[in-house]
Amino acid sequence: MKPKIIQQGAEAHIILENSIIKKRRMKKSYRLPQLDEKIRKSRTRTEARIIEKLQNIINVPKIIKTDESNREIEMEFIDGKRLSDHLDNLENKDAICEQIGEQIAKLHDSGVIHGDLTTSNMILKKGSKGERSFLYFIDFGLAFMSESIEDKAVDLHLLRQALEAKHFTQWQTLFNSIKEGYKKSKNYNEVIKRFEKVGRRGRYKSQI
Ligand SMILES: Nc1ncnc2c1ncn2[C@@H]1O[C@H](COP(=O)(O)OP(=O)(O)O)[C@@H](O)[C@H]1O
Ligand SMILES: [Mg+2]
Repeated sequence: MKPKIIQQGAEAHIILENSIIKKRRMKKSYRLPQLDEKIRKSRTRTEARIIEKLQNIINVPKIIKTDESNREIEMEFIDGKRLSDHLDNLENKDAICEQIGEQIAKLHDSGVIHGDLTTSNMILKKGSKGERSFLYFIDFGLAFMSESIEDKAVDLHLLRQALEAKHFTQWQTLFNSIKEGYKKSKNYNEVIKRFEKVGRRGRYKSQI
């Protein structure tokens, strides 16, 4: 199979070849060269390490190889639907959103903050006949380790904002289902309480 560029994003080029994804972080000319090198290297390293750590905790692609000097990660290709393009039209969107919440609960309970929770960073892989679909999380370049309630609340807050922007006709119901799934988190009550505060803070900020 010939290599195919799936995406030339702001951050990285995503290349598909023989069921393997190569995520290559490209040079950014607007950054100072040394700083750019540092950022690309550290995001590549963080992303690979965190995905590896999550391997048995939630559905993430398997890491095949990390090449820090080329700022490249090779990983399993998740053959499925990008949620940002399909969520609005899925019949079982509430169940899928509950799954999103459950996965975030597991992520946070293991001390990982995703840092960029949006439906573009989620892929729905169809199960074989009769099996339910599996939700995969990708794009951990901005992820970090933290047990802080504030960090978890902000992670959810960013997801809420992303839903509001991308799935604006029904984001509230979708987000309620996500919260339902997130009930599985050991810190559910504290995080949601803080999440509401973060929301109020956000509104207050935008008024001045
Ligand atoms: N392992 C993967 N399997 C399938 N598609 C992927 C995979 N990794 C990335 N993609 C596709 O490439 C897009 C961009 O990748 P992502 O890791 O989110 O990079 P960026 O940091 O540029 O957002 C994703 O939205 C998805 O469509
Ligand atoms: Mg992304």
